[in-house]
Amino acid sequence: MLSVTLNISVIGTGYLGATHAACMAELGFDVIGVDVDPEKIDSLSRGDLPFHEPGLPELIRKHVDSGRLRFTTDMGEVGAWADVHFIAVGTPQLPGGTGADMTYVDAATTSLAQAITKDRALIVGKSTVPVGTAARLYDLVKAEKNDDVDLSLAWNPEFLREGFAVKDTVEPDRLVVGTRHEADEQLLREVYAEALDRSTPWVSTDFETAELVKVAANAFLATKISFINAFSEVTETVGGDIATLADAIGFDERIGRKFLNAGVGFGGGCLPKDIRALQTRVGELGLDHTMRFLNEMDHINLRRRDRVISLAEEILGGDYAGTDENHSAVEGKRIAVLGITFKPLSDDVRDSPGLDIAGRLYNAGADVSVYDPQGNANAAKRFPRLGYVDSMTEAARGADLVVLTTEWNEFKQLAPADLNEVVAKRQFIDARNVLPAPEWEQAGWTIAQLGRKFD
Ligand code: UDX
Repeated sequence: MLSVTLNISVIGTGYLGATHAACMAELGFDVIGVDVDPEKIDSLSRGDLPFHEPGLPELIRKHVDSGRLRFTTDMGEVGAWADVHFIAVGTPQLPGGTGADMTYVDAATTSLAQAITKDRALIVGKSTVPVGTAARLYDLVKAEKNDDVDLSLAWNPEFLREGFAVKDTVEPDRLVVGTRHEADEQLLREVYAEALDRSTPWVSTDFETAELVKVAANAFLATKISFINAFSEVTETVGGDIATLADAIGFDERIGRKFLNAGVGFGGGCLPKDIRALQTRVGELGLDHTMRFLNEMDHINLRRRDRVISLAEEILGGDYAGTDENHSAVEGKRIAVLGITFKPLSDDVRDSPGLDIAGRLYNAGADVSVYDPQGNANAAKRFPRLGYVDSMTEAARGADLVVLTTEWNEFKQLAPADLNEVVAKRQFIDARNVLPAPEWEQAGWTIAQLGRKFD
């Protein structure tokens, strides 16, 4: 049971905001989710989620039905009602640039500050932002707020992973809050009382540190993945096994095995754009050299995609691969791409390695068929020309090459016998290193993995 009654609003109802709103209702608060998109609000009000996130539709329906969760486009309504307002709008990569697009955060904060009429309220930023944003928004809020309103701002970054968003929000591994006033921190302690009762680490700090914690965490994760993928380039040149290497270094607790899965690398709506935005921001601060290594991490990551394309050419073109400048060895070949989302348990195709590879193979003249358990519809919006089908077998029918780019469970459980008689040629690229290669070789397949020598 909650010891305090707080009304909570969440501005922005994308992955982050919809999850946060539903989880706040689950914790017992009355919540309103706000968005400028009336269609999104309509569908959420019916309990329908416009994206795939395990467990979230059930939670939204539960609390829409209980009356504890509502959705609106009316900022005035929440301004008069909520005590705590979470800003959860997106900060995508700027079109044609590498920095973060702050348009949505700035617009949401300005209109919210103007709309708040309650005597006392707190705006809490959750979006991932360039360091310095909270201080700037604090001044903006003070300038835009109504005279008789006691309005402050805090920063509380979110670390949720897609696919585990509900669990990560209800049971976070740490809570980080950046505040300028003791009273603001106390209010956030009330919001997160349940997690605090479970002894969840509580990191109370200044605005700048809170903002940097988020980008530092994502930069570290991206670096870990690119680190192992850099070693992939070495093991596939000299011979060696990248998974064994990762296991062996991962036994050292200082290193740890998590996020050392070599393969086609990271994608999604966070890691790639966050490392680019961080470099851009430190550059603006006159520290260009400081985060230069992240540029290298980005390149290592993108080179893994190139490697899959060159393996496809090698496998399909045999000795002629790369010898004809005007034609790719994939031209006219049938290729099945399994997995188009940036990772399993999501329908998100933003910066997805699978979609990038499928698109490049298509552009090089291949006949590409794609199957993903959740991602086909979103991928088709971005790249309509690929042949989207409803099953793995359909995708692989008559294929000269099968490429696995996202490690969904149904692909991990794939056995050679499932595809032996379906494909035209028993040729496979396992770009996530999840299949038992010797078993496939015994069944007459040519199978390439990343970080293992292929000849
Ligand atoms: C990430 C952070 O994990 C999360 O804390 C932050 O709040 C948002 O960004 P998310 O984008 O959901 O979360 O995905 P994550 O699970 O981190 O995976 C990112 C990418 O890295 C995926 O494309 C995944 O396939 C890839 N990855 C992950 C690897 O290639 N190897 C690994 O060992 C782990």
